[in-house]
Amino acid sequence: MSTKSDFSLRAEPEFNQIIEKGINRRQFLKASSAAGTVAFFGTSPLSNAIAATTNNKDLIGFEAIPASTEDKIIVPKGYQADVLISWGDPLFKGAPAFSQQADSQAQALQFGDNNDGMTFFQISADRGVLSINNEYTNHEYLFAHQGKTMSADDVLKSQNAHGISVVELKKVDGKWEVNQEGRLNRRITANTEMELTGPAAGDALLKTAVDPKGTKVLGTFNNCANGETPWGTYLTCEENFNGVFGSKSENLVLDSNQKRYGLSTAGAGYDWFKHDDRFDLAKTPNEPNRHGWVVEIDPMDPNSTPKKRTALGRFKHENAALTINNDGYVVVYLGDDERGEHLYRFVSKNKYNPSNPAANRDILDEGTLYVAKFNAKDGELEGKGEWIELTFGKNGLTKENGFNSQAEILIFARKAATQVGATTMDRPEWVAVNPKNQSVFCTLTNNKYRGVKDNQPVDAVNPREKNPYGHIVRWMPSGQDHTSNNFDWDLYLIAGNPTIHEGLMAGSDNINADNMFNSPDGIGFDNAGRLWIQTDGKYSNTGDFAGMGNNQMLCGDPDSGEVRRFLTGPIACEITGLTFSPDQKTMFIGVQHPGEDLAPSHFPDGGNSIPRSSVIRITRTDGGIIGAA
Ligand code: FEO
Ligand code: CA
Ligand code: CA
Ligand code: CA
Repeated sequence: MSTKSDFSLRAEPEFNQIIEKGINRRQFLKASSAAGTVAFFGTSPLSNAIAATTNNKDLIGFEAIPASTEDKIIVPKGYQADVLISWGDPLFKGAPAFSQQADSQAQALQFGDNNDGMTFFQISADRGVLSINNEYTNHEYLFAHQGKTMSADDVLKSQNAHGISVVELKKVDGKWEVNQEGRLNRRITANTEMELTGPAAGDALLKTAVDPKGTKVLGTFNNCANGETPWGTYLTCEENFNGVFGSKSENLVLDSNQKRYGLSTAGAGYDWFKHDDRFDLAKTPNEPNRHGWVVEIDPMDPNSTPKKRTALGRFKHENAALTINNDGYVVVYLGDDERGEHLYRFVSKNKYNPSNPAANRDILDEGTLYVAKFNAKDGELEGKGEWIELTFGKNGLTKENGFNSQAEILIFARKAATQVGATTMDRPEWVAVNPKNQSVFCTLTNNKYRGVKDNQPVDAVNPREKNPYGHIVRWMPSGQDHTSNNFDWDLYLIAGNPTIHEGLMAGSDNINADNMFNSPDGIGFDNAGRLWIQTDGKYSNTGDFAGMGNNQMLCGDPDSGEVRRFLTGPIACEITGLTFSPDQKTMFIGVQHPGEDLAPSHFPDGGNSIPRSSVIRITRTDGGIIGAA
C-alpha cells in the first residue's frame, strides 16, 4: 500500500490546473501553488491506516450508463428497477384505488404525493417498514382543475397528501413488496397531532389560541429529507413550510423574523390559508413558529405521537445526518436549504446507550446547536473550519443584540447564525457521514445569488459566481471526533460542463463528458463506503446543461474521486431519497415530480396517464450487492 492519501484528489496536479484555469478572481491566484503541495487528510498516521484498510480499487462495480432524456428509469446492465408504490396508491386493504378525482378522505388512506427522503427498517427476514416523506403537492396533477379553484375539501386533500407514509413491506419471492394488511401502515399528515419537545417547547412564541401551552401542534408538512437513529426511530425534516402560509389580510405587515423565514401574505399557491385559519398569518401569527423543525417518529408504533425536537433548531431543514461519536455522544449534521443560509451541527448532552434503546428516546431534547464557519488561506479552495456555539449568553447572543432566551435562538436560528458570523452557503442540501473514516459530505446544490447579493460574496467554500451547477464540500472533524469544534475541509467535486466551459465552470477533474450533471442534492453512503449522489437540477439538456439529460443518480468513490452514472430518471423528475435493505441487496430511491409544470411525462403508468411520484426498488438480477463488482 502506498502512503498516498485516501483523500488525495486535491493533490492531483490536474485538479489544480482546473482550479488555476478557472481563476478569475484575485483571491484564488495562489490556488495552484498552495493546494498542490498538500495531501488533504493524508498527513496523519491514522488516515494512512484507514487508507491501508480500505482497498477501494474495485469499490464501484457497475458499468456506467449514458445521460438520457427518455421518459423512464434506466439502470446499468444486470440491474432491475421496479415501481414499489406511487402517489395515490392505497396504503390499507380496502382503501380506494388511485384516481385523480379522489377526495380528501380517500387521499388520507393512500400514499402521499412527492415522496422524498426515506428509511427502511428491517424487522425480520421477510418483514420490514419503509418510512417515507411526502414533501409537497403538485396541484397541476392533484386536481383535475389543476389547483385553480381550491375548495375546502381540496385544501384538506392537499394537507392529506403531505406528511409521511409509513409503509409495511413483506418479502415475496425474494423481493420487498407493499403489504396493505400490515399493522404498521400509517399516514401522518398536516393534521396529525404531535408534541413540541426540548428547550423551545412551551415558549410564548409557540403558543396559539388552540394551544395555550405551546406544546401540542397539528401536523408536519414539506418534509424534505430524513435521518434515522440507532434506537429505531425516523427523523423527518420540515423544509419549505413557509409556502403554505399566507393571509387574507393583504396589507398585513410582516416582521423581520417572518421575512427571514420566507413568509408572505400571498403564500406559494397552496391557498390553505383561504380555508383554514391556522394558516392565515393575521389570525394565527405564531403557527409558522411551530413548523420548520426535525420531527422524530417511531415507525414501529402506529399510535405513537411524533415529536418535534426543538433543540435541533428551526430553519428550512434538508436532512438530519445522525452519527454516534466514538465516545457515545449523538451528533446530527443539518443543512438549511436556502440561498445564503447555513450548515448546523447538534451535539447531545447525554451519551447514547446501546444496551437500553428506551433510554435514548428523548436524547435529542438536550444538547448544543452549532453553526459552521469555513476559513481558508487567500487563494485556496480548502482550509480549516469551526463550529460556533448557538447558546444564549455566548458569542454575542445576548439581550443587547436582541436575543432574549435559548428558545428564541432556536426558533430564529437563522438570525443567531448571522449574529455569530456563520458562513453563508450555496444552499446546503443533504449531509452524509462516511462510515469508513468519519469524513462528512454536504451537497451545495446551486446559488444564483452567489457574488450577487452582498451577504453572499464569492469565497473559498462557495467559489463560483451565480453557481449554476453546485458542488460537494467535505470535511474531517479534528481527530475524527465529531464533537470537536474544528475541522479541515476541501471540495469533493465541483459539478460543471467540461464540453462547453473551461475553468471552474467545467467542474473539477473528476467531472467529464460521460458523468456530468448539475445540482447535487440527495447523498448517502452505503455500508461499503460508496457515495450515492442524486440530482435535482435543470433538465433542459441545452445551453449550460447540454449533454446532462434528465435528473439522475451517480455513484462516487470518496477516495479516488471517481464518479459514475448509475441511474437516469423520467422526464422533468427529481431523483431523491435513498435507503438500503441491511443486506445491501435492495436499494429504494425516489422519483419525485415527474412531469412537473405539465412537462410531457406519463411515468410510471404510460399511455395518456398523468405522471405520479413513485418509490423505486432496485435489485440485481444476480442477487448481488448494489453498486459492488
Ligand atoms: Fe426539498 Fe432542499 O430539497
Ligand atoms: Ca425535492
Ligand atoms: Ca432536496
Ligand atoms: Ca434541491
